[in-house]
Amino acid sequence: MWSHDGYETDARGVFVPVGNNYCDQNKAWSLLGTRILEKAWGGLNTTLFAYGQTGSGKSYTQFGYGANIGIIPKCAEELFKRIDAEEDKSLTFEVSVRMIEIYCEKLQDLLDDSSKKGQKDLRIR
Ligand SMILES: Nc1ncnc2c1ncn2[C@@H]1O[C@H](COP(=O)(O)OP(=O)(O)O)[C@@H](O)[C@H]1O
Ligand SMILES: [Mg+2]
Repeated sequence: MWSHDGYETDARGVFVPVGNNYCDQNKAWSLLGTRILEKAWGGLNTTLFAYGQTGSGKSYTQFGYGANIGIIPKCAEELFKRIDAEEDKSLTFEVSVRMIEIYCEKLQDLLDDSSKKGQKDLRIR
């Protein structure tokens, strides 16, 4: 997915493609996110795995920065929209999410502040 150039920044700070080369968050969402969403909605555990060197766009694509919302928050938003729209009130839903990062061979829980400060590395088995 090309992200080096081929986009403009609109008034809200969203990167908008100019031409067909640039992969914006919408394209990443339609290529990858929708598949995650459909599997999750079907009740399956799903994993989105990004591998690449620092600065290659893993955090941008998965989570996003500012107005450029990535796959994980978008997926959560869509899931909860569907849950809200469910008419059968006898149904219950359970949603759980984990976000982990392996960096320099250390496993960190990204939803745990103390882990972010490097205080609590998880064990890799
Ligand atoms: N598709 C993209 N369009 C524009 N900028 C991007 C894109 N992907 C990444 N970037 C920018 O490149 C930089 C590095 O991306 P980042 O996701 O933080 O890398 P990583 O998590 O892989 O180390 C960030 O400033 C980010 O905003
Ligand atoms: Mg990152």
